[in-house]
Amino acid sequence: MQKNKIYIETYGCQMNLADTEIVLGILNSKGYNVTQDANDADVVLLNTCSIRENAEQRIYGRLGRFKNLKESKPNLVVGILGCMAERLRKDLVEKNSIVDLVVGPDEYRRLPELIDVAYNGDKGIGVKLSRTETYDDITPHREDGLQAWISVIRGCDKFCTFCVVPFTRGRERSRTLTSIVNEIKELSNRGFKEVTLLGQNVNSYLDNSKDFSDLLAACAEVDRSLRIRFTTSHPQDLSDKLLYTIAENSNICNYIHLPVQSGSDRILKLMNRTYTIDHYLNLLEKARKIIPGVSFSTDIISGFPTETYEDHVKTLDVLRLVRYDGAYMFKYSPREGTKAFRMEDDVNEETKSKRLQEIIDLQQQISYEINQELIGTEETVLVEGLSKKSDQFFAGRTDTNKVVIFPKNVIVEEGSYVKVKINRATQATLFGEFVSSVDVNDENLALIA
Ligand code: 5AD
Ligand code: SF4
Repeated sequence: MQKNKIYIETYGCQMNLADTEIVLGILNSKGYNVTQDANDADVVLLNTCSIRENAEQRIYGRLGRFKNLKESKPNLVVGILGCMAERLRKDLVEKNSIVDLVVGPDEYRRLPELIDVAYNGDKGIGVKLSRTETYDDITPHREDGLQAWISVIRGCDKFCTFCVVPFTRGRERSRTLTSIVNEIKELSNRGFKEVTLLGQNVNSYLDNSKDFSDLLAACAEVDRSLRIRFTTSHPQDLSDKLLYTIAENSNICNYIHLPVQSGSDRILKLMNRTYTIDHYLNLLEKARKIIPGVSFSTDIISGFPTETYEDHVKTLDVLRLVRYDGAYMFKYSPREGTKAFRMEDDVNEETKSKRLQEIIDLQQQISYEINQELIGTEETVLVEGLSKKSDQFFAGRTDTNKVVIFPKNVIVEEGSYVKVKINRATQATLFGEFVSSVDVNDENLALIA
């Protein structure tokens, strides 16, 4: 009997979602098929995340579930991919008897070979990091849809002291501009309407003399009705050239995810973030001048080693000053191997939680206020389909990534652009009425927005 059914679960960031598509691209070309039912699978893969302790705990929990499955199906191959595979390597196979396969982010090409090793009863292990692997020539397996991710740069050279990514994903390396542009052409032909360019630090992208601004401009040119997003940016490398490129190209979204991590210069220095709050705020001011209507989101860590109440208040101050559209907010979690791991994790759990809650409460209030200010305005919305909550409503997104819901009292197509007048807003969602269709060939899409 041929063993060829793969079941895969993906955890963590968008990079992992994009990697899963690469993994499936590799496996499909070797005759494997995807199944949505783990009970039906010959190979179960978990594409994992190590960024915080609780991400790893969740995956150990899932492994417990597959232990039962393997008891009833002893030939099942269970594999760990991604950051946990890289970080925990042999530990996973030695301490976890059900794991047959451990493959890190740079060894996915070897998966078919390593799965065979596991089928033959040995452990399939591939955890070498590469300075060159970008999977440039692999066609990712993507279901049809409107939205796609493309990893344009892998790894990270920043070494923020709290972060395990430079150890699990290795050094920075960029895909070629030509292959990325070709991939976008294919996506456009297939009817995709939005592409997000991904990297731990996209601003470091470099293909010979072409930098990230050049890449963005080239991607935007492919199809003016296709929105281009990108994430994540590092405040140290966000160049003026990039800001002008966003401003000049109507289909590059006016939305920048720019993690600040902390509002205290002292903590930023301990984190090796390489900027001060002054520098950061000046950068935002400049971006707002160059790109009218630009919005920002951020990442915040609360309770980094030695963080005092005063440091915490400075973080709250930055949130008030910047007024981000949204934020991803985390409690500090010590990661073995990082520089911060050697510092004492001296902010106790209760204080971390309390500070995090204050940060979340403030940010929710700010997001709510920002959305209230949009009542009465007309927003350009890419229609994504019916609302998840009711088939009587359409759902879509603005250029600044806000969800907009409006009644299905008109005929509009998925993937088309419409103007919606906002009449109600919560902290997370805008509600409105259809006004008109938007001609996507109009070069001034962003100006209408
Ligand atoms: N603890 C808590 N949050 C972390 N992040 C990265 N490492 C840690 C850690 N050890 C957060 C940062 C980063 C985001 C992806 O995850 O805010 O920007
Ligand atoms: Fe981690 Fe810092 Fe690199 Fe982001 S920039 S992946 S936080 S080391």
